[in-house]
Amino acid sequence: METLQEIAKAMVAAGKGILAADESPGTAGKRLASINTESTPDSRRQYREVFLGTEGVENYLSGVIFHDETFRQSLSTGVSFVELLQGLGIIPGIKVDMGLQDLPNFSGEKYTQGITGLKERLAEYYAMGARFAKWRAAFSIGENLPSDTCVETNCVAMAMYALLCQEAGIVPIVEPEILLEGSHSIEESYEVTTRVLKELFATLKRYKVQMDGVILKSSMVISGNKNENRANAATVGEMTIKCLKESVPSEVPGVVFLSGGQIADEATENLYEINKAASLSEGGVPWQLTFSYARALQGPSLASWNGHDENIPAARERFLERMKANSAARMGEVA
Ligand code: G3H
Repeated sequence: METLQEIAKAMVAAGKGILAADESPGTAGKRLASINTESTPDSRRQYREVFLGTEGVENYLSGVIFHDETFRQSLSTGVSFVELLQGLGIIPGIKVDMGLQDLPNFSGEKYTQGITGLKERLAEYYAMGARFAKWRAAFSIGENLPSDTCVETNCVAMAMYALLCQEAGIVPIVEPEILLEGSHSIEESYEVTTRVLKELFATLKRYKVQMDGVILKSSMVISGNKNENRANAATVGEMTIKCLKESVPSEVPGVVFLSGGQIADEATENLYEINKAASLSEGGVPWQLTFSYARALQGPSLASWNGHDENIPAARERFLERMKANSAARMGEVA
């Protein structure tokens, strides 16, 4: 598997999705703090091993996104995480953006940094086995938010990132996350998500990014988490498909969804409804629609593990349950 197109197709293979195991050391530390476990390079390594050591992951995962720290770490057997995945036929991916910064003069808005030195970092990651990468931008919905300037700034950075990835033989995942936090309605989520995706793909096109060698990581079109009258899963499915059909080029092989703080069952049900709405929509859709969750795959297991070795089998069982359920949902089925 060598071309960008082949890699991209394999990333969204039938019945499979992507595990986002790319929380920064800071965010992984917060997850560990929730189970009263000190965050050290080794406890973060153990946290990854709970998930990646689960027997059968290759039946549900096409790829795993790592943070730089994990990309260089190993299982307790000494086999590196990257070698483990390669042996299982799972594609190793790497988060390459360097996080969010405040956008000066635009209160409450962020831009994503990480272009400096990216060409060299991509060459190193490719040599180490990475075949896809991820770059995340984040947009809040609010009064006059996101601003056109924030959308444009982030889309230009994502296009430059995508271009450098493709030059390096790495498939770029572009992730413009519309944040769930807020009291916005599903209609506002639809309006903002459509606006951002249209601008993103227009910019990628201007930069001559190959559309059949890029994967979109999108938020669902969904009511804000503080909205008192949140739309149901069927509406999430229909409005997400409407939005994607208006904004995502047909050459893009797949759209993978982030869970964004949805509870695990909600993220699965919404993925099921999205695939159902896709199959019912006129003419169907040209893309594979699957998951690329962090919290919605790992959250329930983290609680079971609770930092104790004796709980690892139970934690892995719960991880398998989440993967099975989302694998079915991504095929428009119920597990
Ligand atoms: O960038 C966000 C992660 O890749 C997905 O994480 O599913 O917890 O939102 P999440």
